[in-house]
Amino acid sequence: MRRPVLAGNWKMNKKIEEAVKLATELKAKLGEVKDRDIIICPPYTSLGKVRDVIKDSNIKMGAQDLFWEEKGAFTGEVSGPMLKDAGCDYVIIGHSERRQYFGETDESVNKKMKAAFNFGIIPIVCVGETLKQREENITFKVVEKQIHEGIKGLDENSVPKLIVAYEPVWAIGTGKTATPEQAEEVHKFIRQTLKRIYGDGDAHSIRILYGGSVTPANIAGLMNQEDIDGGLVGGASLDTESFIKLVNY
Ligand code: PGA
Repeated sequence: MRRPVLAGNWKMNKKIEEAVKLATELKAKLGEVKDRDIIICPPYTSLGKVRDVIKDSNIKMGAQDLFWEEKGAFTGEVSGPMLKDAGCDYVIIGHSERRQYFGETDESVNKKMKAAFNFGIIPIVCVGETLKQREENITFKVVEKQIHEGIKGLDENSVPKLIVAYEPVWAIGTGKTATPEQAEEVHKFIRQTLKRIYGDGDAHSIRILYGGSVTPANIAGLMNQEDIDGGLVGGASLDTESFIKLVNY
């Protein structure tokens, strides 16, 4: 049995005070939940304060990106050890917004994923096709390449800890969710691809999250699918009630 994961990607939202308020409310209602992993990913500026709020609870924190070097002259970047220091156990890597607006490639995703593991942070690696690619019927080809190039070269200890997020780009922030069947089809393909690379046993434990307009109304149907192990949630994670409902799907 893979343990469910509900992760909130706050993106570029919430100033420190707002982030602390949301984290405080979530801790009050979700801090004791033990049968699933709950992760919130605030922007960098709020990490330290949110860590102080959620410590001693079952809510964990993730960052939205990292740079692969440990330290040095890389203006504007944040390293794995800095994220660890700020209280992060997880980091989102290769989100489609980073691929689209900030030149993220499968190669940089791969370096970042390995750096995250090196520094003791669990990466949540995002893959997914655009609407054009889906319409051209190349979804599997696109996702397979993102996996082969982005998720290659892991050692066997790291493989079972990895988290992958399938986020069809056309479903992100658009209100258009993939149907549970559409999502499951790609999740199954992702798992088979990972098994071909890493072998049956280890890849079986990898949790694969779905992301793209997940709401309290559609989460249960998605979670019912065999290869969907959780959700990476943007918009619906910014509101206390909605994220609580999502976690308690
Ligand atoms: P959304 O974003 O839930 O607002 O569609 C999901 C994501 O980008 O991770």
